[in-house]
Amino acid sequence: MRQLETVLELPIEVNISPMSVTIKTEQEIEKMRTAGKLAAQVLSMIESHVRPGITTNELNDICHDYIVDELNAIPAPLNYRGFPKSICTSLNYQVCHGIPSEKILKNGDIINIDITVIKEGYHGDTSKMFMVGKPTIQGQRVAQISHTAMWKAIEMVKPGVQLGDLGHIIQQYVEAQNCSVVREYCGHGIGKEFHEEPQVLHYGKPATGLTLEAGMTFTIEPMVNVGKRHVKLLKDDWTVVTKDHSLSAQWEHTILVTETGYEVLTLREEEIQTP
Ligand code: MF3
Ligand code: CO
Ligand code: CO
Repeated sequence: MRQLETVLELPIEVNISPMSVTIKTEQEIEKMRTAGKLAAQVLSMIESHVRPGITTNELNDICHDYIVDELNAIPAPLNYRGFPKSICTSLNYQVCHGIPSEKILKNGDIINIDITVIKEGYHGDTSKMFMVGKPTIQGQRVAQISHTAMWKAIEMVKPGVQLGDLGHIIQQYVEAQNCSVVREYCGHGIGKEFHEEPQVLHYGKPATGLTLEAGMTFTIEPMVNVGKRHVKLLKDDWTVVTKDHSLSAQWEHTILVTETGYEVLTLREEEIQTP
């Protein structure tokens, strides 16, 4: 996800494109559909490998080879602003941007795997939670809450709805479950660029912010903590963890705004029956 940046804090060299939201053409949408479908396929493919005893490096390598060799696509994270691996793996109290390593998964862990691929110049970005071995009650609960929060926002998407409406429904639901929403990172526009305008906050007030129009593409990717919302960045400059070391969970889809509602560009086959 994108780190929240105020215009003043944004280094000038990173500010490559004017702050504007792109409306995708039908040809671009077709490419976004392809990229989204491929990213979804990676998550489906990796499911059976997420078991006690595997390392996050091994998960990275399996995904990397699948993306490059089977899908003929590019793993977007690799070398993105210096990120060293092809996927993000965020374990237990890690919120996002975990770097694959020699860490061995164990029974009861929860892990987010975040996949972004580039195909024909367009990005598809999606993540989901996996339970390692036998799920714990708390692990399942936080994963379920972030999943429901994401879908509540997705189902609201249509022209005329405002981004504050999406943020509000996520925040209201998550906080009613006595969990918290991370504020420092957000969803983002996506297309030719990995992270485009707009910033899609997972908290907010109804009837505020950008009004959605058909042809916009962006991610919704709420990060939900069991404890307090505050996070810190580890010394590796990437891994974000909860300050109180409480469990955290996240799901992500890439969404297209259509004339009548939405299309989930990263929908997996398993989701078609029961979203
Ligand atoms: N896929 C993440 C997102 O949802 C971004 C990862 S950036 C990386 O926006 F460099 F850590 F890969
Ligand atoms: Co994203
Ligand atoms: Co992502």
